[in-house]
Amino acid sequence: MRSTLLSIVLAAVSITQIIATPETTNTATSGSAQTIDDATVLNFALTLEHLEKEFYAGALAKFDQNAFLAAGLPPWARGRFSQIADHEKTHVDFLSKALGDKAVQACTYNFPYNDPRSFAALSQILEGVGVSAYTGAAHLINNKDYLTAAASILATESRHAAFVSSAVNRMSAWNGAFDIPLSLNEVYTLAANFIVSCPSTNAALPVKAFPALSIQLTAPGETAAVSAPSAVSPPTYIVFFSGLDKIFVKIMDGKVSIPKDLAETVYAVATTSDSAATDDTIVAGPAILMYPKDSNNSLMAKKA
Ligand SMILES: *[C@@H]1O[C@H](CO)[C@@H](O)[C@H](O)[C@H]1NC(C)=O
Repeated sequence: MRSTLLSIVLAAVSITQIIATPETTNTATSGSAQTIDDATVLNFALTLEHLEKEFYAGALAKFDQNAFLAAGLPPWARGRFSQIADHEKTHVDFLSKALGDKAVQACTYNFPYNDPRSFAALSQILEGVGVSAYTGAAHLINNKDYLTAAASILATESRHAAFVSSAVNRMSAWNGAFDIPLSLNEVYTLAANFIVSCPSTNAALPVKAFPALSIQLTAPGETAAVSAPSAVSPPTYIVFFSGLDKIFVKIMDGKVSIPKDLAETVYAVATTSDSAATDDTIVAGPAILMYPKDSNNSLMAKKA
């Protein structure tokens, strides 16, 4: 039964284009029409650092060591999260100092966790988005000193992501040989899920959130139902971001075939184009998809 289904699904795979070219040029996938100065990029980074800082501070205030132990987490987990919280606070202080009067202030947030386990799962996602944000924004930074500082923060966020994913959540520490660069709007779309409101005095950033995209979590090689708001132009393709690759798959009858070699964390957007995933063509997403592999490269039974 399953093998019949699988062969039908594989026959339906229609990957029309696989772009495996690293983004080596300065062409922004987002905001290319406007010039984005360094202060704007730093304020964007600060927006994310505020979010991370409040995320950890809030969870640590809510859950003591006993709550972590009762959730089945190791005795060292909370102390490590506390060290991560200190790093995020230091990043906020560092960027705020660099920006002076222009620095944006913290917003109010709503994080969908209700115990230390779901907090740790969300931590893995937020650290991953942070890594993709710094990776994707690197090309927008002009000042080389800022670029070095951003690379240094990126390295630390990447260590956080690896630690949480592997030591705490027992998944892979990495996301393949390349991690995924995301554009400002793609990152903002993911962050906006947790932002309730921001101080009106904060400088408006040139970013917007795309409508939500939901893709059914099935195994790579299987089909998955796609759901995007009906108000937007109907998307024709789902673009899977995996490492530096962007894989375009045509939507058929409201479903998409998940490319069979996808692994670990993948972001997906819905577009009206078969070859470009830009602010002009993206109509919804990113959605976050996770296909965690074990140490033997088998898909882990537990789908996060
Ligand atoms: C990986 O393969 C080895 C050797 O076959 C086996 O001992 C081990 O249990 C496997 N690990 C997992 C996570 O399945």
